Amino acid sequence: MNKYDYIIRKETEKDYLETENLAREAFWNLSTPGCFEHYFIHIMRDHPDFVPELDYVIEVNGRVAANIMYCKAKLTDEQGNEKPVLTMGPLSVLPEYQRMGFGKALLEHTFELARKMGYDVVINFGNPDNYVARGYKSCKKYNVCFGEGEGFYPAALLVKELNEGALDGRKWFYHPSDVDHPCDDENAVAGFDKLFPPKEKAWQPSQEEFYIHSHSVISW
Ligand SMILES: CC(C)(COP(=O)(O)OP(=O)(O)OC[C@H]1O[C@@H](n2cnc3c(N)ncnc32)[C@H](O)[C@@H]1OP(=O)(O)O)[C@@H](O)C(=O)NCCC(=O)NCCS
Repeated sequence: MNKYDYIIRKETEKDYLETENLAREAFWNLSTPGCFEHYFIHIMRDHPDFVPELDYVIEVNGRVAANIMYCKAKLTDEQGNEKPVLTMGPLSVLPEYQRMGFGKALLEHTFELARKMGYDVVINFGNPDNYVARGYKSCKKYNVCFGEGEGFYPAALLVKELNEGALDGRKWFYHPSDVDHPCDDENAVAGFDKLFPPKEKAWQPSQEEFYIHSHSVISW
């Protein structure tokens, strides 16, 4: 699949700091100056919605090169029926190993495990470029919305059916976990970041791309 020999394995406690550093390297300055994803991973592991069975890494030459994590979330229909789903993310690949198939390998590996665990839908908020090749579609195509009442369909809200037809066309409201709420605390993120080597915050064009994706809504 790529020129490196690699293994896909569960994350272990010994990997935690290395995985957090990898997330920091992968996301640094990508969406905003700096990033919060290393802190996000750190707090996620203790949250009741975290799914440890799907916490995987790719190891290359003894180094953690990529990581994927999932949390439980739910959909509700207009009658109030609930459907358990998974939210994928963060998915992080060290910059020097990006675009070599590691992200793809982690997604496909964990999709299969998630299917065996009985999940049939994975949702994430992200740049569609990274996910459409994995079979993700716009939330609008599956009638999965954010909010209440009419709801709305963010362009970055992406839905993957692990079993075709799992969403059966009815209108669904997406309720993500509150797992990422502590990441709004800038002091907590900055305090955690001090555990890592200094790194310069800067503007880069991907931040504007993120703004556009994350503020866009599909309306027809
Ligand atoms: C986004 C990310 C997880 C993707 O993982 P990756 O290992 O780099 O990507 P892969 O090599 O597995 O490629 C996945 C898809 O990206 C696209 N892709 C691959 N190489 C590409 C390139 N050179 N240019 C544009 N798109 C490319 C393709 O759609 C590819 O799927 P395909 O091989 O079936 O065609 C990784 O680059 C990363 O960590 N980026 C920084 C953090 C981030 O953005 N995380 C996702 C948050 S939404």
